[in-house]
Amino acid sequence: MSKYIIKGGEKLSGEVNISGSKNASLPILAASILNRKKVKLYNVPDISDVRTTCEILESLGCKIEKINNVLIIDSEKMENTVIPDDLMRKLRSSVILAGAILARFKKVSFSLPGGCDIGTRPIDLHLKNFKKIGIKISENSRYIECICDKIESKTIELDFPSVGATENLILASIYGNHEIIINNAAMEPEIVDLANFLNKLGAKIYGAGTNIIKVLGVKKLKELASYTIMPDRIEAGTFLVAGAITKGSIKINKVNTIHLGPVISKLKKCGCEILTDNNCMYINGNKNTTAVDIKTMPYPGFPTDLQPIFSTYLTICKGTSIVTENIFENRFKFMQEIKRMGAKVKFESNSIIIKGIKKLHSANLECTDLRGGAAMVLAALNSDGVSEISKLDYLFRGYENFDIKLKKLGANITREEN
Ligand code: UD1
Repeated sequence: MSKYIIKGGEKLSGEVNISGSKNASLPILAASILNRKKVKLYNVPDISDVRTTCEILESLGCKIEKINNVLIIDSEKMENTVIPDDLMRKLRSSVILAGAILARFKKVSFSLPGGCDIGTRPIDLHLKNFKKIGIKISENSRYIECICDKIESKTIELDFPSVGATENLILASIYGNHEIIINNAAMEPEIVDLANFLNKLGAKIYGAGTNIIKVLGVKKLKELASYTIMPDRIEAGTFLVAGAITKGSIKINKVNTIHLGPVISKLKKCGCEILTDNNCMYINGNKNTTAVDIKTMPYPGFPTDLQPIFSTYLTICKGTSIVTENIFENRFKFMQEIKRMGAKVKFESNSIIIKGIKKLHSANLECTDLRGGAAMVLAALNSDGVSEISKLDYLFRGYENFDIKLKKLGANITREEN
C-alpha cells in the first residue's frame, strides 16, 4: 500500500496541466467495442479505473495497445459476453459495458458492480429502462443476464437524471431501426463527450447536454481514426481548491472553464480571485476567506464529486458554512478523518455544518474514497506539520500523477511504498 508524506504550509504556485476525464474515458472505452474494429483514443488518463476497464475489455477478447496517454482498442476478435465478477466488483462504471456489449452481441451477463462506498448505488434505473426498450432480464444470485433481439422505439422518463443510466441507454440503443427518446436525461459534459465520440463513428444521437436525448438506431458504425477525450473537470476543480486552500497562485491549463461554472462562482464568493481564459484559468487564494453554503445537484449544479474537496476548504473559511449532499447519501465519511486535523464540523442527515477555523493541524489519515482521499491531501497541504495519507489506492483510481503535479507546484509531498 502506498502513502503520501506531506509537510504542509507551502503556498502552491506555477502551472499544472489537467489530464483527460476519467468519467468520459470509461464510457468511451466501453463504446469503443461498438464498431467491431479499431479505435484510437487520445488524452486517456493513466489511472487505475482506466486500467481496470482495459483489463475487462481484454478479458472479453479485445487487444489493447497503450502508448503513454494514447490507447488503441481493437475489438474485432471479441466474442466473450460475460463480464468477470472479480473485475466487475472493482468499479461501478463497469456496468456501462453492459449496454455496449448488448448492442453488439444482443446479450450480456454481469454481476452487481462495485465502486467507492459513498451510498447504496443501485442499478435499478439501468435495468428498469433496459426492460422498457425491449431487453429481457433474468437474475440469479450471482449474475444478471440481459438478452435482446430487437430494441423497441420508446419514450423513456428517467426518475432521476442518472449519469450511468443515461449512458447505458444510449449505448444499448445504438444499433437497430428504432427511435429512443430519453426525457430527464443527465446533462453532464461527459455524456456530450460520449455522444460526440459515437456520432463521429456514425451513430445518431441528438440533444446530448440537454435533458432530452434522442437516439436513432443505425445499421453500422465506421472505423474511427481517433478521438480526444475531454479534460477532467473534477481534477481541474481539485487544483482550483488546491490553490485556494494553500493561499497560492496557480495557472491551470487544458481545461474547459465552462464546465466549472458553479465551482468558480463559489470560490469567488469565498474571496478567491479567479480569471478564466480560453482553455486555462488562474486562481489566487485570498487570505481573507469567507464561508459559503453549497448544495450538490446534477449538472449544471455543483458537482457531488467536488463536494468533499470544497467542504475541506470550507473548514478554514471564516464563518459557518452548510454543505448539503443531494446525490449520494453517504458522502461525508471523509470528514470524520478531516476532523482529526481539528476541523469543526457537525453532521445532520444529508448536511454538514462547518465552523471555519484559521488552520488545520497535521494528522495521519486514511483515504475513505476517491474524492475524500484528494480532500485529505489538500487538508494536509494546509496544515502545519507533517501528515501521512494512506490507503491511496482509492485516490489512484481517478488522479494521474497527483503527487508529481503537486510537487511541481511547490508542495512538499513524497510517495512511499510499504
Ligand atoms: C457518475 C460518475 C460519478 C458521479 C456521479 C454523479 C462516472 C464513472 N461516475 O456516477 O463520478 O459522482 O455520476 O454525478 O461517470 N441511482 C439509483 N439507481 C440507479 C442509478 C443511480 O438510485 O440505477 C442513484 C445513485 O445511487 C445516486 C444517484 O442516482 O444516488 C446518481 O447516480 P448516477 O448519476 O447514476 O451516478 P453514476 O453514474 O454511478
